Amino acid sequence: MLASLQGHDAQLVDPLSLKDQQPPYAKNAARAVRPEVFVAVGICTHLGCSPGVAPKGAGNPSLPADWPGGFFCPCHGSTFDGAGRVFKNKPAPTNLEIPPYRYASDTRIVIGEGPKA
Ligand code: FES
Repeated sequence: MLASLQGHDAQLVDPLSLKDQQPPYAKNAARAVRPEVFVAVGICTHLGCSPGVAPKGAGNPSLPADWPGGFFCPCHGSTFDGAGRVFKNKPAPTNLEIPPYRYASDTRIVIGEGPKA
């Protein structure tokens, strides 16, 4: 899945999550504190529907042939890659929101609080 985040930056609105709504630890390709664990708010940034997981090769006719896998919002067709980065020319204006969160331990995440300084 991490490999699927590579190679389509030119198709994304904000590949490095440089817009203001993103915490500092989301400003990378995986948009995560730890790349292997993705934490995001599951609400489309268009009008608030819930995008679903859309794996590569799932046969969804609403997705392009070169779909790398990610999330698909069925309401108006916005598409996000596996890191929640929105594709260009879709209704959603920004990437999926990454909430404040931090690791309390190796196996426990606290959502709602950012990393301690
Ligand atoms: S609410 Fe997701 S595309 Fe409109």
